[in-house]
Amino acid sequence: MNRQWLYAKQPQGKIGADTFEWTETAIPVPRDGEALVQTRMLSLDPANRAWMMGKTYRDALEPGQVMSGFAIGEVVESKTGGLKAGDIVEGDWGWQDYAALPARRLAKRTTQAPLELLIGPLSVTGLTAYFGLLEVGQPKPGDTVLVSAAAGAVGTMVGQIARLAGCRVVGTAGGQDKCDWLTRELGFDAAVDYKAGGVRRALAAACPGGIDVYFDNTGGAVLEAALSLMNLRGRIVCCGNVSQYDVDKPAPGPMAVPGLVVTKRLRMEGFIVMDFYDRRAEAEARLARWVAEGRIKAVVDVVDGLDKAPDALIGLFAGKNRGKMAVRV
Ligand SMILES: NC(=O)c1ccc[n+]([C@@H]2O[C@H](COP(=O)([O-])OP(=O)(O)OC[C@H]3O[C@@H](n4cnc5c(N)ncnc54)[C@H](OP(=O)(O)O)[C@@H]3O)[C@@H](O)[C@H]2O)c1
Repeated sequence: MNRQWLYAKQPQGKIGADTFEWTETAIPVPRDGEALVQTRMLSLDPANRAWMMGKTYRDALEPGQVMSGFAIGEVVESKTGGLKAGDIVEGDWGWQDYAALPARRLAKRTTQAPLELLIGPLSVTGLTAYFGLLEVGQPKPGDTVLVSAAAGAVGTMVGQIARLAGCRVVGTAGGQDKCDWLTRELGFDAAVDYKAGGVRRALAAACPGGIDVYFDNTGGAVLEAALSLMNLRGRIVCCGNVSQYDVDKPAPGPMAVPGLVVTKRLRMEGFIVMDFYDRRAEAEARLARWVAEGRIKAVVDVVDGLDKAPDALIGLFAGKNRGKMAVRV
């Protein structure tokens, strides 16, 4: 059987168990030009929730469809030239055991690494941190780099890459435990618990020379505080807005943004990691080398079992993860 999670209905406010519906159906049979893939790992991403709110960089989810999501799998049968049984591939075929897909929707992975690394640090997560920080943020040695959701998948990688680039690195995360972990285990120079209140004051103390690059994963209160602490000609890398995904209606933006951007000559720039995929091989090789040499710790938070996917996604918004949250199927 093919076990699947369907996207059942649009949540009002936070996602819950009733956002999804479990079903079992026949294993699909690949047609000419397709491969049958068995899911091995599922990536859980804040964007999964954002796709429920309407059109983003992709179409909105429709109730009744298999819950979308990025996955790694193994080809079990192939009716397409470029793939054979046993190949490891990635793609967006969602929360299910099997999918039959045309070759153009599957990317073959050739990097030799455990699947736990291929689902995050050596894939979307690592590449988002790499290109977002180095290309959009343009950090220079000695700069102060602030990253929000610093203990998460992208954040842990951004902080460590910034440190390799010779920057002073400050993170925000929910709870003192996570903050202590960032400074103790991942080499952050300082970390601020944004849930403790007084985030602007705490960030000002953690960044006495101001902020040169703010890598924004959250939007909301941390962005508002960071804006007022940015140095002249600072760069704000708009990577995501996780504080506003699991809500009914996003809060209005900070009122002072335009004035601060003008007077401080700031650059705020959004990006989608796929914009840089023509340079993916070079970045992936570099990330793999840094991880192999122990210069970057690839942190992955794995939950076992397809049945646990909804709880794991709900947990992501409660900040239960450290590093990349993934489901082993
Ligand atoms: N632009 C791109 O191409 C691209 C690609 C991938 C990801 N992204 C974005 O990157 C960001 C991070 O994604 P990720 O995959 O690395 O997820 P993640 O950071 O591993 O997980 C999300 C984290 O967000 C924090 N969070 C949850 N609710 C929050 C709130 N209301 N305010 C502040 N923080 C909150 C939680 O940590 P705490 O304990 O700290 O609260 C949680 O661990 C997201 O905004 C995502 O959309 C963008």
